[in-house]
Amino acid sequence: MRAFLIVGNKAVTKPFNLNDLAGGAGRMDLLCRCVAQALFISHGIRKDVEVYLLLLGPPEPPKAILIKGSEVRYMAPDERNIAGIIRKALSVEAGKQWHKSSPGVYVAKKGLEELLDEIPYRIVYLREDGEDIREVAPQIYDVLFVLGDHIGLGEDDEKIVVEKAWKIVSVSPLSLQADQCIVIVHYELDRITGTS
Ligand SMILES: C[S@@+](CC[C@H](N)C(=O)[O-])C[C@H]1O[C@@H](n2cnc3c(N)ncnc32)[C@H](O)[C@@H]1O
Repeated sequence: MRAFLIVGNKAVTKPFNLNDLAGGAGRMDLLCRCVAQALFISHGIRKDVEVYLLLLGPPEPPKAILIKGSEVRYMAPDERNIAGIIRKALSVEAGKQWHKSSPGVYVAKKGLEELLDEIPYRIVYLREDGEDIREVAPQIYDVLFVLGDHIGLGEDDEKIVVEKAWKIVSVSPLSLQADQCIVIVHYELDRITGTS
């Protein structure tokens, strides 16, 4: 299993305008691109991938959304379609337990620490100054990759992640967009396993 957790520092926690993903929705466009790159291949979905989005924007932070590749239906790889599915999840009353909002999509009122404690995979924090992914890729299976958004991780959140991380890993000498990092992770791991 490969899992990805992307922290949306400004991503809103209520239904949003699909025509204003980058502005009013708090860079929801970026999170949608991460979902697309994590889940989609040509004409298919990676069944062994889970995507967690942690939304920390107004009005009711934190909220978490989980998308399971093994269950998801009626999702297309374009940002607007994915945004519509997230929007629907945010229209559901979120409690402490995961609540299904559409096939393969769940929402809950959970923060970073709770999520990291609950997800049953080793944690890899993706950061520019980490160990080269090529050095550790053969050991990477059943892992949760944690990524920041355009801002990165806030200081307190980073402390939590670093404390719980099995490894800090870099995918490039350059600072990349979060969705680009996800593509590289899949590429490096697919080269070894042939599949996710
Ligand atoms: C656009 S970057 C964040 C840049 C932000 N200004 C910062 O300083 O953290 C988004 C996220 O992608 C991941 N990332 C970017 N470049 C990376 C790299 N070369 N290796 C590993 N992760 C990277 C990190 O998790 C980062 O928080």
